[in-house]
Amino acid sequence: MEPLDFKSVFCNTSNCISFKISPKHSIYKLAICHQVIVDIRFLFDVSEVETCRSEERKTLPIYPYRDELLQAVNEYQVLVIVGETGSGKTTQIPQYLHEAGYTKQGKIGCTQPRRVAAMSVAARVSQEMGVKLGHEVGYSIRFEDCTSEKTILKYMTDGMLLREILSEPNLESYSVLMVDEAHERTLSTDILFGLLKDLIKFRSDLKLLISSATLDAEKFSDYFGSAPIFKIPGRRYPVEIHYTKAPEADYIDAAIVTVLQIHVTQSPGDILVFLTGQEEIETADEILKHRTRGLGSKIAELIICPIYANLPTELQAKIFEPTPEGARKVVLATNIAETSLTIDGIKYVIDPGFSKVKSYNPRTGMESLLVHPISKASAMQRAGRSGRTGPGKCFRLYTLHNYHKDMDDNTVPEIQRTNLANVVLILKSLGIDDLVNFDFIDPPPEEALLKALELLFALSALNKLGELTKVGRRMAEFPLDPMLSKMIVASDKYKCSDEIITIAAMLSVGNSIFYRPKDKQVHADNARMNFHLGNVGDHIALLRVYNSWRECNYSTQWCYENYIQVRSMKRARDIRDQLEGLLERVEIEVTSNLNDLDAIKKAITSGFFPHSAKLQKNGSYWTVKHPQRVHIHPSSGLAQVLPRWVVYHELVLTTKEYMRQVTELKPEWLVEIAPHYYQLKDVEDPISKKMPRGEGRAKE
Ligand code: CDP
Ligand code: MG
Repeated sequence: MEPLDFKSVFCNTSNCISFKISPKHSIYKLAICHQVIVDIRFLFDVSEVETCRSEERKTLPIYPYRDELLQAVNEYQVLVIVGETGSGKTTQIPQYLHEAGYTKQGKIGCTQPRRVAAMSVAARVSQEMGVKLGHEVGYSIRFEDCTSEKTILKYMTDGMLLREILSEPNLESYSVLMVDEAHERTLSTDILFGLLKDLIKFRSDLKLLISSATLDAEKFSDYFGSAPIFKIPGRRYPVEIHYTKAPEADYIDAAIVTVLQIHVTQSPGDILVFLTGQEEIETADEILKHRTRGLGSKIAELIICPIYANLPTELQAKIFEPTPEGARKVVLATNIAETSLTIDGIKYVIDPGFSKVKSYNPRTGMESLLVHPISKASAMQRAGRSGRTGPGKCFRLYTLHNYHKDMDDNTVPEIQRTNLANVVLILKSLGIDDLVNFDFIDPPPEEALLKALELLFALSALNKLGELTKVGRRMAEFPLDPMLSKMIVASDKYKCSDEIITIAAMLSVGNSIFYRPKDKQVHADNARMNFHLGNVGDHIALLRVYNSWRECNYSTQWCYENYIQVRSMKRARDIRDQLEGLLERVEIEVTSNLNDLDAIKKAITSGFFPHSAKLQKNGSYWTVKHPQRVHIHPSSGLAQVLPRWVVYHELVLTTKEYMRQVTELKPEWLVEIAPHYYQLKDVEDPISKKMPRGEGRAKE
């Protein structure tokens, strides 16, 4: 074969570079999936890649409005920008502002509701600017700061900007802030709105851009004193919408059947399926693979690409790879593909009409993730994903009647359905005491605010007057939920901060430490139970996992042998390092007390005492405050042990309300550690007296 003629390298508008192979003029496509571009750069002149990129940038819908946009930014302090997903808001606007000289006065910060989006967009922009990620263009997400002194374009999660305000209340180092994906209305975005609205009064030189993918811009404009709205006309092709005739009992199955039907009967074009989470995506992936295997060569190849927040970065890049000719790609995605990520080539969307949303019960203080019907606005967004590059089709797996009757117009903002303890602690640290009169764009339920204040008081972060205490100030330094922060601060007293930050880091990684391959479940379970010897509880087991890994010099081989996910462990190590740095900041010495397990458990209890539960005769548990029936999660090391009293990290609702990460405790600790919260009668009385109505003893 003739060598590649690199001179004829050119970029097309999608996410790939095409190489012309002379003299036959056939075209070979190579995806530039974030990292790959860096790797193939050595093949040819970097300037050529940049030329390609700059040509590509000019094809985006936002490009014709570049000068007008810059003029508007120049003229107004606050600007609301609306443009469809994929029009170039996130990647282009910060670059335009940089080109126009705004970075001479300070950084440009751009917030994203999702970690994955902040990382992938920063990677993309650094490529477009031909700089190394982390230098001029960087990102900052919780526990991962990929920026440097040089950074002028900084992508970050909205939660990170909120924390930055703690250390830099006037955000002097920024000249422009862009609150992106504002329509998502995450808790942090809503709080940022309130803080930035106030800040711009004092910083007349600061530009504020609010950008949104949907048309609810009027609301943002009204909130920011009738700020002008800049609309970027989209390029949308018509989308045909199909509904089912009757409701579907099993939407995963219905989605799979629809994928196969499209694959067999419809013209070429990729498929995007919206599911609610990793578990559903994995199930659908498996079933699809199984069903297409039987069809063999009778049908074209179907490439299945899952995408969800916890998917390793290397695998995430796969969804951006162009589909080979003759094949069809099906992307199984969570809500992340609704507006945060743009995948080229999608022609068919399958929308079962559900997503997982956090809901919070202010009465009990319990939070759960529930599968819930999406809003009409979300349904519109989802459908729109099929009409980006040509006419599309959207298959809604619900009836038209469901659409009109069961779906809200808009998604309820997170602030109205979540635990507020974390942001209340941040606001208190910023000296904002009058929370009821804080300028919320949509106020949270008063009950949820009170509950947050109550919890912070119980954790001794606030005093009776609602003022921040020394403990509270220390807690606010940690980018963690208040109960975890309190556990760390309390570890000082029990001389076990070394162990406690390890436990906090392992808990922060989530439930991806242990690995349980289908064909080796028994081996994996045995390996896992080794860490639980002596029924020490899940927290201590996590500590043992980490310490054993550390003793083996952070060995990957050790992880394989013990069915531990090495990626999660590395993340835990990063988080732990940062927590160690923060300990120094709050002047807590790193001390180890590994032989005194009770001391470690007491430190855990100091943060998590509101999460205590007592065993019932039938093997279920009642939570001690606000009695509710809960169970030990089957994955817990204590699931067969059933200690009389336990403290748990979190509740998850699946088929039942389960406690995850459980440790045994002695009831007298509750009174010793939290005398303002528990009285002797709480830990002595037979629990039956405190049962809610309708839950009689007979059932026990
Ligand atoms: O923010 P908005 O949705 O308006 O668009 P954007 O994120 O700036 O994306 C503009 C274009 O860049 C999209 O059409 C994508 O094809 C591309 N892009 C990409 O390939 N990889 C990314 N990580 C982000 C954007
Ligand atoms: Mg965007």
